[in-house]
Amino acid sequence: MLRGRHLVKSDDFTVEEIESVLELAMQIKSNPEKYIKVCEGKLLATLFFEPSTRTRLSFEAAMNRLGGRVIGFSDPSASSATKGESLEDTIKVVSQYVDIISMRHPISGAASQAAAVSPKPFINAGDGKNQHPTQTLTDLLTIKANKASLDNLKIAMCGDLKYGRTVHSLAKAMSRYKNIEFVFVSPKELEMPQKVKEELVGTKYSEKRSLEEAIKDVDILYMTRIQKERFDDIKEYERLKDSYILDREKMNLAKKDMIVLHPLPRVNEIATEVDQDPRAKYFQQAEYGMYVRMALIMKLLGL
Ligand code: NCD
Repeated sequence: MLRGRHLVKSDDFTVEEIESVLELAMQIKSNPEKYIKVCEGKLLATLFFEPSTRTRLSFEAAMNRLGGRVIGFSDPSASSATKGESLEDTIKVVSQYVDIISMRHPISGAASQAAAVSPKPFINAGDGKNQHPTQTLTDLLTIKANKASLDNLKIAMCGDLKYGRTVHSLAKAMSRYKNIEFVFVSPKELEMPQKVKEELVGTKYSEKRSLEEAIKDVDILYMTRIQKERFDDIKEYERLKDSYILDREKMNLAKKDMIVLHPLPRVNEIATEVDQDPRAKYFQQAEYGMYVRMALIMKLLGL
C-alpha cells in the first residue's frame, strides 16, 4: 500500500510498488479523461527552494489534470525561510493546509529531514546532489515503454555523475532489476561517487572516459548536464562543461535500437541535430514525467 507514504529516495518503494505506479501511469496516459476528477477537493503544495521549470510545472500539470489544486512557491525568497524559519516548521505549517507536499531543495538530505516531520505524504522533487526519485520513475516508465522490460539492459550514464542526482537515483533503482550492466562515462573529476557505487550490490559496472567507446553496445544512453550550480570553482566548470557532446556522428556508432534519455534541461551535451533521430526519447520522457506524477499523487493519496 502506498497510501500515506513518502517518496524521498528511489528505493523507498519496492519493485512491485514501482510497477504499480508505472502501470497506473500508462493507464492514465491511454485514457486521461477517466481521471479528470479523481483529485477534486485535494490540494498539493509545491515548495521549490531551488529553481526548476519542468519538475514544478509537471507536478502542477499533474495535479491540475487530476482535478486537484496547487499552492506553493517557486522562489525561496518568497517563503518565510528568509525570516529564518526552519524547514521543519515550514513543513509542519504547510501540512496543515494541504493533502500532499512536493519539495525541491538545494541541500542534500533536506528531503528526509522534511519527510520526517510531515504528517502528509511527502515527495522529494530533488534534494541537492542527492536524489531525484520522481525523475527516476519517469526514466523507468520511458525505458519500459521503449524496451518492454526493465531487465537485461546495458546502460551508459554520461556527463556529470558526481553532482547529478538523477543518475544517483536511477542507478540505485535499476540495480534492483535482473541482468543490468552500467557503464559510467565521465571525466575523472565528475565520477560516480563511491557511496553510490557501493550501493549497487551485485550489479556489474565499468567506468570509461570515452563516449565513443561506450556508445557502441549499450541499450540506453542516459546523458546529463554538467551541474554548473554545484561547482565551487567556476573555472573548473568552464573547463569541464563541454566534456561530452552527443552528435549525429556518435549516434552512428550506436545500436539501431539504443535509446537516448536526458532529464533535461540540456545545455550543450546533445546537439539539436540528434532530436530528429527516432532513438532520441528525451521529449517523450518529459511527457511521461507528468503521467507518472499523476499516478504517484493518486497512489500516495490512496485514490
Ligand atoms: C534535473 C534536476 O533537476 O536534477 N532536471 C529535472 O528535474 N528534470 C536535471 C538537471 O537539472 O540537470
